[in-house]
Amino acid sequence: MVFLFCLLFFYYCNTSFDYELYFLLISSQNISTSLPTEFTKLPYLQLLDLSRNYLRGTIPPEWATMRLSNLSLMGNRLSGRFPTALTKIATLLYLSIEGNRFSGPIPKEIANLKNLDKLDLSSNDFTGHLPAALAKLTNLTYLRICDNNFTGKIPNFISQWTQIERLDIQGSSFEGPIPSSIFALTQLRDLRISDLKGGGSTFPSLENMLKLSILVLRNCLIHGKIPNYFKDMMYLNTM
Ligand SMILES: *[C@@H]1O[C@H](CO)[C@@H](O)[C@H](O)[C@H]1NC(C)=O
Ligand SMILES: *[C@@H]1O[C@H](CO)[C@@H](O)[C@H](O)[C@H]1NC(C)=O
Ligand SMILES: *[C@@H]1O[C@H](CO)[C@@H](O)[C@H](O)[C@H]1NC(C)=O
Ligand SMILES: *[C@@H]1O[C@H](CO)[C@@H](O)[C@H](O)[C@H]1NC(C)=O
Repeated sequence: MVFLFCLLFFYYCNTSFDYELYFLLISSQNISTSLPTEFTKLPYLQLLDLSRNYLRGTIPPEWATMRLSNLSLMGNRLSGRFPTALTKIATLLYLSIEGNRFSGPIPKEIANLKNLDKLDLSSNDFTGHLPAALAKLTNLTYLRICDNNFTGKIPNFISQWTQIERLDIQGSSFEGPIPSSIFALTQLRDLRISDLKGGGSTFPSLENMLKLSILVLRNCLIHGKIPNYFKDMMYLNTM
């Protein structure tokens, strides 16, 4: 209802908007329309949360002009390729498109989102190799790319995400082994990798991750001994 009201409001006042709306949260309302372009008429809008509805279609190209910092479209039925409009909202700090039906590769233009702090692309149908451009998102502290159908190995460039605290790569169809460059991620508190295909390896080198509290390495074809250094990880509570 709230949403319909907003839509009507937009349609009848399609002249310039001086409406100082900063946050708009319309989650879990069973909305099943496609995404309206009219949100672009809210020049002050920073946070848009449309999570857990039944929104369909893709993201309108007009959204490229928005200056959002936080956008959640989690848990909808959005589909098509990774939306180009999103790669142009360079102000984004937080982006979640988890749990939709997006498909195809992650575009290299995602590198435009240099301010990103948290990114969640989990539970879509993304495919292909992770683009090297992702390495440029060096401010990431949180990244989830679970439950997709990527190809190739987990790339070496993950070592560029030096601020990362949570990294979740479960069920993403990657080939093993876990790259040795992972040892550089010393800020990790929560590391979860599962279901790697192909090449196995000995235990990856995690001894510098002294802040680890959760570690999941399930079905990663790791063989050999569990290293001794875990006894020095004073925050580790789930392994
Ligand atoms: C959404 O739909 C479900 C099932 O029909 C209903 O139980 C729920 O109350 C609806 N929620 C809203 C906010 O309308
Ligand atoms: C917006 O995202 C930033 C970066 O992840 C986060 O610190 C902030 O709490 C979010 N704002 C709100 C209101 O959720
Ligand atoms: C990364 O974050 C810092 C503040 O935490 C900010 O000053 C810097 O501009 C950001 N880097 C990029 C590339 O946006
Ligand atoms: C993943 O992609 C491969 C081809 O690259 C395909 O054979 C396989 O069926 C896909 N798996 C799923 C779960 O979609």
